[in-house]
Amino acid sequence: MSVMYIQGGAPLEGAWRVQGAKNSVLPVLAGCLLSPQPVVIRNCPRLSDVDAAVDILQHLGASCRWEGEKLVVDAGQASGTAIDEGRMRAMRSSIMFLGPLAARMGEATLTYPGGCELGPRPIDLHLEALRAMGCQVEEQDGTITCRGRPRGGVVTLKFPSVGATENAMLCGAGAAEDTTIVNAAREPEIVQLQQFLNALGGEVTGAGGSVITVRGGRPLHGGAISILGDRIVAATLLSGVAAAGGEVELQGVDWRHLSTVLQLFEQGGCRVRSAPGRIWFCRREDVPMKSVGPVATAPYPGFPTDAQAPVMAAFATARGTTIFQETMFSRRFGHVPELREMGADISLHGQGAWVRGVKRLHGAQVSATDLRGGGALAVAALGAQGETQLRGVEHIDRGYEHLEEMFNRLGAQIQRR
Ligand code: EPZ
Repeated sequence: MSVMYIQGGAPLEGAWRVQGAKNSVLPVLAGCLLSPQPVVIRNCPRLSDVDAAVDILQHLGASCRWEGEKLVVDAGQASGTAIDEGRMRAMRSSIMFLGPLAARMGEATLTYPGGCELGPRPIDLHLEALRAMGCQVEEQDGTITCRGRPRGGVVTLKFPSVGATENAMLCGAGAAEDTTIVNAAREPEIVQLQQFLNALGGEVTGAGGSVITVRGGRPLHGGAISILGDRIVAATLLSGVAAAGGEVELQGVDWRHLSTVLQLFEQGGCRVRSAPGRIWFCRREDVPMKSVGPVATAPYPGFPTDAQAPVMAAFATARGTTIFQETMFSRRFGHVPELREMGADISLHGQGAWVRGVKRLHGAQVSATDLRGGGALAVAALGAQGETQLRGVEHIDRGYEHLEEMFNRLGAQIQRR
């Protein structure tokens, strides 16, 4: 397995165009199954999770080919209805194929999905949604079987689950009658999925709000979508600038999608300016950040759980104590022991992390335990004194397209060996 060698201490300067969003392209890839004609996905990021989704599509009989940054998917000949455990365990998003398979094929046989170790990752809301839409869903000995085309109906989510909302939208787009999703997740990636389904001839409305309506009985055709900028990669990059100091211009991401993160950094003493598709961000090297009020993760538009780790790494050297409350996942502090190895002063109290700022972190040998935790360790290493050896880069490659290239373009010194 390769290792990232990160020399800390250099300020970050320059401009960078943010990659397409992993959490947008993955449900879109599953949705390609709904169309009997080709789909063109522009600004598609090159990620191992995207490779895993392509592998599932090809396994089901679809063809996929890269044309530069475009990925063209043709599911016209797709006929498979089963996904084996190896492919299901490759990532959490494999469960996103359940809804499209039920809608297109009228049946699906899957096992439980994999993904980052953030604590239990149940899929009860996904299965309840499809049952509410008329599918017969059974679970037995680790296998999930879904029989019967979806009729449509009312899906009321106990929690605004991103994945369950997306599965219900994807299934509803191929259902015979209308579907209404109540207490839907409101993330920008949900709005993009609505845009995608409508590009295929669907009629979906309400995304971005808590009630989404999906018209049934609509024949779907081919189409195109351009994947929106990844707000979590943007938050990670800005966390790196906050940690190391410097001044950057981010392009290709909507500042409103990470406004809670920007507000936090402004309160911490960074300078932020934004315009459509651009964010200017500065943290003067001679002016350390200052701690901010308690940060609690929440469903969008609250503070994103995916930004908790990288932002925490940036506040490890702020003056004062910053408290992070993780409300979404029960085990999302895997990066804390590794940050302590680098000299961070963090104490855990249940789902809370008390981050007492220290003057500077130092390089160390650390390992990523999950995707965003890996991003956090890279952020910490950029501001640390000396060299950090970062292992577990396979976690990072799931969601960051060439993380070292992104930071090196801005003046960092990261080598992968
Ligand atoms: C999506 O995961 C994202 N992944 C996650 O990003 C993100 O952290 C999460 O949404 C929250 O924003 C993708 O989009 C591929 P949820 P998802 O369903 O859909 C519970 C990253 O780093 N729940 O909104 O799995 C669940 O346990 C990843 O890019 C159930 O109880 O998140 C969690 O506590 C990590 N039953 C909460 O809801 C269910 O059936 C939020 O989960 C589903 C979820």
